[in-house]
Amino acid sequence: MLLLIFIILHLFSPAATTVNNITLPGCTSKCGNLTVPYPFGIGSNSGCSIGPWFDISCNTSFDPPKAFLPENLFSYTGSSNIQRLEIVGISDEHVRVKNTVAFKCYSQIGEIIDERPTGLVVVSSYFTLSELNKLIAVGCDDYSFISPVAGIEGKNFSSGCGASDFTDPDFVNRTEETVPVVLNWVIGTRSCNEYKNTSDYYCQQNSICVDFEGGNGGYRCSCNNGYQGNPYLPPGCNDIDECADPNNNPCDGICSNLPGSFNCSCPHGYEGDGRKDGNGCTVRNSRSPFLKLSVGE
Ligand SMILES: *[C@@H]1O[C@H](CO)[C@@H](O)[C@H](O)[C@H]1NC(C)=O
Ligand SMILES: *[C@@H]1O[C@H](CO)[C@@H](O)[C@H](O)[C@H]1NC(C)=O
Ligand SMILES: *[C@@H]1O[C@H](CO)[C@@H](O)[C@H](O)[C@H]1NC(C)=O
Ligand SMILES: *[C@@H]1O[C@H](CO)[C@@H](O)[C@H](O)[C@H]1NC(C)=O
Ligand SMILES: *[C@@H]1O[C@H](CO)[C@@H](O)[C@H](O)[C@H]1NC(C)=O
Ligand SMILES: *[C@@H]1O[C@H](CO)[C@@H](O)[C@H](O)[C@H]1NC(C)=O
Ligand SMILES: *[C@@H]1O[C@H](CO)[C@@H](O)[C@H](O)[C@H]1NC(C)=O
Repeated sequence: MLLLIFIILHLFSPAATTVNNITLPGCTSKCGNLTVPYPFGIGSNSGCSIGPWFDISCNTSFDPPKAFLPENLFSYTGSSNIQRLEIVGISDEHVRVKNTVAFKCYSQIGEIIDERPTGLVVVSSYFTLSELNKLIAVGCDDYSFISPVAGIEGKNFSSGCGASDFTDPDFVNRTEETVPVVLNWVIGTRSCNEYKNTSDYYCQQNSICVDFEGGNGGYRCSCNNGYQGNPYLPPGCNDIDECADPNNNPCDGICSNLPGSFNCSCPHGYEGDGRKDGNGCTVRNSRSPFLKLSVGE
């Protein structure tokens, strides 16, 4: 009987969902499996992004469809054959793109037998190569190298010796498929304070502006603690209802949601801070510390 009541309560417990907007109204959020959140947007000049530099093209002639960054923001050194950067993921801070492996293979007498001297050059202030990238070089003698991440400004390729990978004919393809290059993305080139009160300031309600330290400056928006959603889209970030799930909330006692936070309290006759990570609720004046109550479970 108790179990049945529990199940019924469980079925009718309020849904803990606030559906947060990902894109501007009327814009598509998915290119295949890839989620494209505002300030990015799908389509060239579709009005779905913050500006043309964040327009993602989704090529549906591939199955699954492939997403690309705008081509005029990047170039490759040493290669006239400009390739477009295919996106594999977009997060709050980073865009992960497929890798291009630079290589140069020499014959035993030192002739170049195959090469692809490419280096990714970011020519846009909105993107910078992340420090998360590792410059990896493998080679089999002083003349040979393969470098999966090329062209980090101010740093040159290094070459080395060892490299069982060099004998693996699939190394270049495997690296390009599985090791993404991480780019930072930012808005603008100046600090939060310089953009506040201008039309280039995008941080909405319940969010804070965070200066990007590095690259050419710029900023990002981030939801305040206790809020969630897309900080760039009006009306802004939404309060997280910490108490929404009666079976999994931070309180041992009574949970009350507050804007940006929550309050735990104990029912009449019990004392304590009511928190699961605190001392919970105990019967008032009880001498036994083991008499704990779990309300709502
Ligand atoms: C989603 O966007 C619409 C239109 O801008 C807005 O009215 C609504 O409040 C937004 N929803 C959330 C959860 O932010
Ligand atoms: C898309 O996502 C689904 C579910 O996570 C996964 O099974 C599928 O392999 C993904 N497809 C691609 C092309 O990544
Ligand atoms: C999509 O990709 C195909 C195959 O590479 C290419 O022929 C076509 O031009 C691309 N379409 C767009 C809109 O870029
Ligand atoms: C990188 O190589 C170029 C050309 O060989 C050289 O001029 C430059 O000083 C090197 N940069 C560093 C950081 O070693
Ligand atoms: C690597 O990929 C290219 C282009 O898709 C293909 O032509 C080549 O055969 C691949 N190499 C190996 C070793 O799989
Ligand atoms: C922005 O405008 C508000 C009032 O509209 C003003 O109090 C504030 O000083 C301004 N901030 C900057 C950085 O100009
Ligand atoms: C939290 O709940 C307690 C007990 O109901 C109440 O006394 C207190 O004022 C509440 N705090 C806030 C910030 O609402």
